[in-house]
Amino acid sequence: MYKVGWLDSHAHICGKEFKDDLDKVIQNAKDNGLVKIMIICSDLSEVEKALELATNDEMFDVAVGLHPNDQKFLTDKDWDLFYEYAHNEKIIAIGEIGLDYHWHKDNVEKQKELFIKQIKLAKNLNKPIIVHSRDAMKDTYDILKEHKCKGVMHCYSGSYEMAKEFTKLGYYISLAGPVTFKNAAKPKEVALKVDINKLLIETDCPYLTPVPFRGKRNEPMYVKHIGKYISELRNIEENELKEHICENYNILFKKF
Ligand code: NI
Repeated sequence: MYKVGWLDSHAHICGKEFKDDLDKVIQNAKDNGLVKIMIICSDLSEVEKALELATNDEMFDVAVGLHPNDQKFLTDKDWDLFYEYAHNEKIIAIGEIGLDYHWHKDNVEKQKELFIKQIKLAKNLNKPIIVHSRDAMKDTYDILKEHKCKGVMHCYSGSYEMAKEFTKLGYYISLAGPVTFKNAAKPKEVALKVDINKLLIETDCPYLTPVPFRGKRNEPMYVKHIGKYISELRNIEENELKEHICENYNILFKKF
């Protein structure tokens, strides 16, 4: 059985932004009722630290993936190291992986190639994927439809209609800080209407800090402000949301 509480399904806590005070950040998370943090390693140099944390404390899970924004800078050696990590049983998901046409429009085909290669590996390993999609919703959808896998649309920013289509493919929808931003109409609509059995929450820290801490460095403890906001929006008890989020997380990542 698993613990029920707030959880952060996407946190980059082994990055350089946390190198000076990670212990404090972890303690803050525990003090604020978090029961789980999925550590996302987009930089391969972060993996050893993440594995050490996960080995010593069951609060942590680890995911590793080659991010589309790094596609241009990756070498064969990076792929080999990623491939080795992907097989590690302590690494329970592949991500974040995907497409980013906001920052990089000139290497679309290469991004797709890297994305598909990692989806195929995840399928072989029977591990879910954590998907990054920025200004690339249609291509992301087409690839996920063709290459059947399971996973989560992280920091989802698309429409409710598209969210429904992703859930039909077997994907969960994870909402981050922007749902609390005043003018973010789309995430609010998604938060209100998406099937609660397909919903996850995350900070994507160190960025995208939710209200009322917008502008500060983000950290896992702030996920509770995202959860509280969604509970109020849906007019349900916070505990009911926690139960759903923890169940969803465990179905996706532990019983894939
Ligand atoms: Ni991220």
